[in-house]
Formats: sequence, structure tokens, C-alpha cells
Amino acid sequence: MRKAIKGFSKLSKEAKIEWITDQYFNQSEEAATLLRKYWHKDAKTQKLHDEFIENTLSNFYTPFGVAPNFKIDGKLYAIPMAIEESSVVAAASKSASYWLERGGFKTTIISTIKIGHVHFIYEGDSQKLKDFFKKIKQLFYTDTESLTANMRARGGGIESIVLKDKTADMDNYWQLEAQFDTCDSMGANFINSCLEQFSQTLQREIKADSRFTLGEQAIEVVMCILSNYTPECVVRSEVSCKISELDGDAGISPEDFARKFQRAVRIAEIEPYRATTHNKGIMNGVDAVVIATGNDFRAVEAACHTYASRNGQYSSLSHCSIEGDTFRFWIDIPLALGTVGGLTSLHPMVKFALEMLENPSADELMSIIASSGLAQNFAALRALTTTGIQKGHMKMHLLNILNQLEATADEKDTIVNFFKDKVVSHSAAVNKFCELRGIPTPQVTSKKS
Ligand code: MEV
Repeated sequence: MRKAIKGFSKLSKEAKIEWITDQYFNQSEEAATLLRKYWHKDAKTQKLHDEFIENTLSNFYTPFGVAPNFKIDGKLYAIPMAIEESSVVAAASKSASYWLERGGFKTTIISTIKIGHVHFIYEGDSQKLKDFFKKIKQLFYTDTESLTANMRARGGGIESIVLKDKTADMDNYWQLEAQFDTCDSMGANFINSCLEQFSQTLQREIKADSRFTLGEQAIEVVMCILSNYTPECVVRSEVSCKISELDGDAGISPEDFARKFQRAVRIAEIEPYRATTHNKGIMNGVDAVVIATGNDFRAVEAACHTYASRNGQYSSLSHCSIEGDTFRFWIDIPLALGTVGGLTSLHPMVKFALEMLENPSADELMSIIASSGLAQNFAALRALTTTGIQKGHMKMHLLNILNQLEATADEKDTIVNFFKDKVVSHSAAVNKFCELRGIPTPQVTSKKS
């Protein structure tokens, strides 16, 4: 019978491990050893990781790889990627080399504004609130001066504050909507601190205004929070070339490849089932770099999928055109990123990743990550419209299968070599492994009648 626990976070790390192994692993020393095995050997580094979150027991490894040969706006990058999916880095690298020979990726920062809200309820006369807002608006800026000083010195700060009437959507619902420029930081703490000050200013001033007979109860602030939807923090990355320069692989002509590729993109534009998978492939390339550079991939994911639905139906984040003899493929993507603050100077691997990218500005990182997403999408569509995705995917997955079977290094070499010119499937890999070891192949029994 499992027991709940009070005050778990107050226990020492050893005591937490003991409790977990006691409750969920039959007090197995093996489970505790596994957790300890993944501790960093340098106690200081381990302590740093322990303190990133609450209740740290160990570390959770994800491969950190690199995709070289990305030419973006004329500059050559080796892009850091933290991801567990076998084929992602290989696909990014393949696309990078492909477009390196065709002019590389070109990017445009469309906008870099982030948004936050004070969500509140007001039941009184609308015009009175609007006049009041006009009268006190400047105070939102002056009351946040100490919070915004550093950001203003860097060229950012609060860009605008407006009062929004949302009563048509929900009874008595109003917003203060503020726009922010957070320069090279992601800016979540900065934005939320400003919003909480706006809320205090709003409540203080309404209490002091004799026209609001209910005093501070004239409004109820529900919450103050930035929005992770950033349709005004958008970057475009694109590739283009003459159709005759395209190489679709697998013997397909450049013209047929361009046409088929464009159709595949069009299907993702109009069909949400396909758009979801299409965009998932883009996020393979996006998230891996977002994570490696210490950014918040949940925020990026949330923003991208809302953006993909902005016209009322979930759709492709990338687009393709064929005009005359020119093939063009591009992505517009919202990316709210930071290259200072947060984990960027704290996590040694994040520091390394950013240094490898030559310490980019947030704008430059937007360009890099959008290009990584586009490269990933290009690789997926190129495979899907020609050879099919499984050929490359299973080749990369073969090592996972062999590792599951605990194959030795020699066995892996032999089997990888064997599959060089063959299609990999799970059962074919298992069969080959068993044949090599001279052991019977496991019988598969179906659970379905
Ligand atoms: C797999 O992680 C991603 C793909 O399914 C993307 C796509 O279908 O475009 C290959």
C-alpha cells in the first residue's frame, strides 16, 4: 500500500532516494545505485543541477549533438541540438549541407514584441473606466521605472499599454494589455514584475478616485501574466534556388520533386491531421536547439501551435512556392527567446552551446532556430516525397534496437554493415542478431484474436 508523504521537499537527497526506493522499488539498492550513477562526479556541478528544480534525485541524460554546415545569412554555424530522437541531427545536417550548396538560409526578423496582461473584472460604467485609464496611464510607466531602468538602458522596456474591453467575450472582463521589448532576454520575469506593479497601481488609483464609490472593490484583478502567444515576435527563414538545381534524391527529376514537395506542403496547409505531423517535424529542429540554448521549449511549443491556428484552423508553419523557374520554401515562426538571463550563464552546457554559436543576440538565435526548423522540415518532406521516411529513420534507429538487445561493439558493426543496403525493420534486426549469436529467434505471440 503506497503512502503519501508530507514535507518531502524538506528531506535530504539521500532521504528522498531512500523514500522513493522504499515506496516504489521494494527498497532495491539497484534503483538507488542507478540514480547515483547518473550524478555528476564533480560535486559542485551536481549541486548546480540539484538546485535548478525541487526534489532533484539525479540527472536525466539527453544526447547533445551538433549539426554543422548551416549557412544562415551568409554566416556558417555548427548548431547545437539536445534531443533523443535518432534521426533528427542527421536530418538537420543533411539539409544544412544541401542548402549550403544552394545559397544557404536567409532570415528576416519580422517583429520582437512580447505581450502581457492584467486580467480584471469591472462591473461599472465603461466610459468611466476608459476616462480613468487615460488619466492614470502615465503612472504605469512611472511606477515601474525602477523595474524597467536596466531594460531601458539596453534599448527595451514597455512599448505600450492599452485598456481592452473584453466584455463581449465574458461578462465584465477587461484587460490591461502591455507590449514589451525585452532585448536579448526572454523577459518573463521582467514582464510579470511589470504587470504585477500595473495591478497595484490600478488598484491604488481606483481606491483614491472618488468617482468609484466601491473604492478598490470597483475592480477585481484576476491575474497578471505574460502571454506565451507571441504573434508579434516572429522570424522568417527561407531557402530558394532554381528548380533545375534541386536534387530530390532517388532518381526523381527536379521538376517532379519541386511539384511533389509543394503539394506535400499544401496538404499540410489545408489538412490538420497532416499539419500536426508536419509541424511536429519542424519542432524536432526547433526544440532541440531551444533546449540546447537553455530556452523554454514549452513556451515555444505553445506559441507555435497557437500561431499555426491563427486563421481559425490548425495549419502548416511552413510554405512553398514555385514561381517561374524558382523554388522557394519558407517558415514564419514565433520564437520568444533569450540569450542572456535564465539558464544561459548558469548551465555549463548551455554556455557551451551559446559560445559555439558565437554568443548570438536573441534576434540571431531566432534566425538560427527558425532555420533549424525549416531544415528539419525540408529533410522530412524530401524523404517523404521520394524514398519514404522509414529508410533513413530505421537506419538511425538500428543502434537503439541493437542496444536494447545488448549487442557487443563487434556485433553492432557487423549488423550495421549488413543493413547498409537493406531496409531495417525491428524483426529483421532481431533475426540478424540471433543468427549472428546462434540463438533461436524469439517467438512473437499476438495479443489480438
Ligand atoms: C518524425 O519525428 C517527424 C516526421 O513525422 C515529420 C513529418 O512527417 O513531416 C518525419
